[in-house]
Amino acid sequence: MTTPERILIVDFGSQVTQLIARRVREQGVYCDIVPYDKAVQAVDTERPKAVILSGGPASLTDAESPRADPRLFALGVPVLGICYGFQALCQQLGGEVEGAGEREFGRATVDVVDDCPLFDGVWRKGERHTVWMSHGDKVTRLPPGFRSVARSDNAPFAACADERRRLYGVLFHPEVVHTPDGAALLGNFARRIAQCRGDWSMARFRHEAVERIRSQVGPNGRVICGLSGGVDSSVAAKLIHEAIGERLTCVFVDHGLLRQGEAQEVVDLFRGHYNIPLVHKDASELFLGKLAGVTDPEQKRKLIGATFIEVFEQAKREAGAAEFLAQGTLYPDVIESVSARGGPSVTIKSHHNVGGLPEGMNFKLVEPLRELFKDEVRELGRELGLPHSLVGRHPFPGPGLAIRVPGAIDRAKLDVLRKADAIYLEELRNAGLYDAIWQAFVVLLPVRTVGVMGDARTYDQACALRAVTSTDGMTADFYPLPHDLLGRIATRIINEVKGINRVTYDITSKPPGTIEWE
Ligand code: XMP
Repeated sequence: MTTPERILIVDFGSQVTQLIARRVREQGVYCDIVPYDKAVQAVDTERPKAVILSGGPASLTDAESPRADPRLFALGVPVLGICYGFQALCQQLGGEVEGAGEREFGRATVDVVDDCPLFDGVWRKGERHTVWMSHGDKVTRLPPGFRSVARSDNAPFAACADERRRLYGVLFHPEVVHTPDGAALLGNFARRIAQCRGDWSMARFRHEAVERIRSQVGPNGRVICGLSGGVDSSVAAKLIHEAIGERLTCVFVDHGLLRQGEAQEVVDLFRGHYNIPLVHKDASELFLGKLAGVTDPEQKRKLIGATFIEVFEQAKREAGAAEFLAQGTLYPDVIESVSARGGPSVTIKSHHNVGGLPEGMNFKLVEPLRELFKDEVRELGRELGLPHSLVGRHPFPGPGLAIRVPGAIDRAKLDVLRKADAIYLEELRNAGLYDAIWQAFVVLLPVRTVGVMGDARTYDQACALRAVTSTDGMTADFYPLPHDLLGRIATRIINEVKGINRVTYDITSKPPGTIEWE
């Protein structure tokens, strides 16, 4: 197999830099993101076929603001500057950038003033197209060797090209969906201009990842992989099993806080169907015992985290000697984010990842997914033949249902919640909406309300339905579920789940809310 081609994305701190990587990968070209001040070192190791300079929040009119390392322009590979990256490219190569009186933010229109390889087969001279802009400054003079290929109402230069040196710039953001032709323009850059083959696929990744795992673990090494019932750990386990077979042992710590049927599904699939050695620790008694009477959300999370490590240690001993521990680390956990530098460090919630590496454990890590985004992990899961019900599953928090029962929890409340949650998810699936929603779940409220059923008075608990859209869980919008569906779900929950007599719908976005209630 030929060596994979790479594009290097140089990050100036834009909130959407990761989207550039996703769009480029969708073109079948692998790419990595590096902070702007580490770009040249990365060039030495990665030998990219092209470089993309991202957007960023700073202003080039500020002398202290970040610049691209000038050596990037002398590599002889194509460079595409986006927004701030475009302005940096222009200013650093002899053009001029000025603070604009007006900010251009949101949907805008560009006039294509000339044809250029970036637009091939997508935009033609004389056409007008919709793009998404987010800039304050503008380029007022192009550097020598460049020509203008697009302008907008507010900016004389919305795109420019120097074909001889293969340097390009766009003021708008081709990586966001609000620039409808953006993916095609990035495709032109990667395939036509940088001449990448575009042969990076999940089939190829699977093959290379299996080879990498084999060479890391060696002919006799043994690996332990914590399973959580979620997508990442399941995909990692299946991939590692493909690489080293029975030398993988999975450990499944069941804290009794999973959704209905989930624990059994994990055991049936991995031990039963795939025949992967599995240590299943049913530790629900221990967890629920420790959580009894605990009402503070942070205390709940910390208790669950600590207990998880304790049980995992025991299970690990039962799994036998192993020098490697698998982790489902993903690419967004690995990227050194420029936008997060100097950012707020206040803890909103202490996240606990089931299957995460407890501190002080003496293991070497196997992290076969560390190059992938979440949706790529799902694709890999499909490639590996994992069932759709698992691969398409909504994210589920490490502390599980404990943070979906505000206040003190017990087994009875968890059972009530599980039943309501299963009805909700079943109705969403039946309505064909499950896959359009990032996360949906029921929260059992610590509130009792009066109702009437038949001729009798009821005094039972209320619950809240939550459904949100999101791309990474960092921000979220509530999902506008149709009213008739909400009505059907409420009727079914109240009729079928003893203990709930009122259903509400949570219409809070994040921020200011969070997705989970605790
Ligand atoms: P919040 O509630 O902070 O959640 O808006 C954002 C996303 O993170 C998930 N979440 C967790 N995931 N361990 C996890 O692995 C945790 O402790 C945890 N807490 C929240 C949440 O479900 C949502 O997808």
